[in-house]
Amino acid sequence: MKTIDELLAEGVTGKRVFVRADLNVPLSGTTITDDGRIRAVQPTVEKLAAAGARVIVASHLGRPKGAPDPAFSLAPAAARLGELIGADVAFATETVGESARATVAALTDGRVAVIENLRFNPGETSKDDAERGEFADQLAELADVYVGDGFGAVHRKHASVFDLPARLPHAAGDLIATEVGVLKKLTENVERPYAVVLGGSKVSDKLGVIDHLLERADRILIGGGMAYTFLKAQGHEVGSSLLQEDQIPAVLEYLKRAEDKGVEFVLPVDVVVCEQFPDLKAKAPTEHRTVPADAIPAGFMGLDNGPETNKLYASKLADAVTVFWNGPMGVFEHPDYAEGTRAVAQALVDSEGFSVVGGGDSAAAVRILGFDENAFGHISTGGGASLEYLEGKTLPGLAALED
Ligand code: 3PG
Repeated sequence: MKTIDELLAEGVTGKRVFVRADLNVPLSGTTITDDGRIRAVQPTVEKLAAAGARVIVASHLGRPKGAPDPAFSLAPAAARLGELIGADVAFATETVGESARATVAALTDGRVAVIENLRFNPGETSKDDAERGEFADQLAELADVYVGDGFGAVHRKHASVFDLPARLPHAAGDLIATEVGVLKKLTENVERPYAVVLGGSKVSDKLGVIDHLLERADRILIGGGMAYTFLKAQGHEVGSSLLQEDQIPAVLEYLKRAEDKGVEFVLPVDVVVCEQFPDLKAKAPTEHRTVPADAIPAGFMGLDNGPETNKLYASKLADAVTVFWNGPMGVFEHPDYAEGTRAVAQALVDSEGFSVVGGGDSAAAVRILGFDENAFGHISTGGGASLEYLEGKTLPGLAALED
């Protein structure tokens, strides 16, 4: 993979450089609630601009249906990028149409533009190679060079991620280089004990990674909605908690494999339950209580790890030398159910080991709960991307930058 510094050494002054970023940030209306992904690509944008490139930043945001949808406009992200780099950022209201061509044509050396959400064009996510290729051809006309730096999207075989780099000279941006470097530490010559904390709602999203990590990790700690499928598989009643009955056979197989391999599988011993799912907007106090994980009453749902579990998980993380964490331990968006997620984050902060927070919800949780990002070894910008990397899959957006 060519690095951005190698690209700069070849000279980029006056060249139109297409930076495929991941500006898929959470929005409340037009307000960005977590700008981590924009800050993560800022160094690459600044480096290119400082070297005199004409920088075209492109990304997806959300999952629009292949047509313009104002709710998914990248305009707020473009404005935030401008604030961060302290310069005007032009904004094209189309992906490859007249507005995009005119905006790029008006760029001068060292200036930056953002083009509208790539997923407003059906060619971006199409499963049809020809349709994706056609869109990639149109994008290629906008630029002379491609820089891949949207780590959060490298697991997607999309036109701007996979097909476009094949059409232009290309390099990997600094964010991708950093993310891949960190993930290598979790897969090659890992320093032990290696503990993995997995949460989030669905066990089906984590099957591949559990399968892979059973061969590598020393301890796997489970929390969040997915824990209830494990508890049910162990024969406990889980009330009205989130449950994926169809995953019970897979879960039982993992528990058996863990035992055979001497991998410690740790499940909650107590949980915080409520009769209803809380209102995450109003955040009004709820009637909740803590019960043993094997005694969840009928009609109650588990929404967070309880205090004994929090202590247990902290003890399992205290001496870990390498930790990977993906997925919150509970409904952290509500103050009554944030303690489990906070406790894991605090355990990582307190640990002297190397801790990696996988992207998505756990990265957002760390910031929303007010932790200092620098207290962690690394906070990834990629949720699905880092999981797929750890599963050992070939990621299209990384493969495309290889040659
Ligand atoms: C993410 O949020 O994980 C990335 O931006 C990829 O988004 P996607 O899951 O909609 O492809």
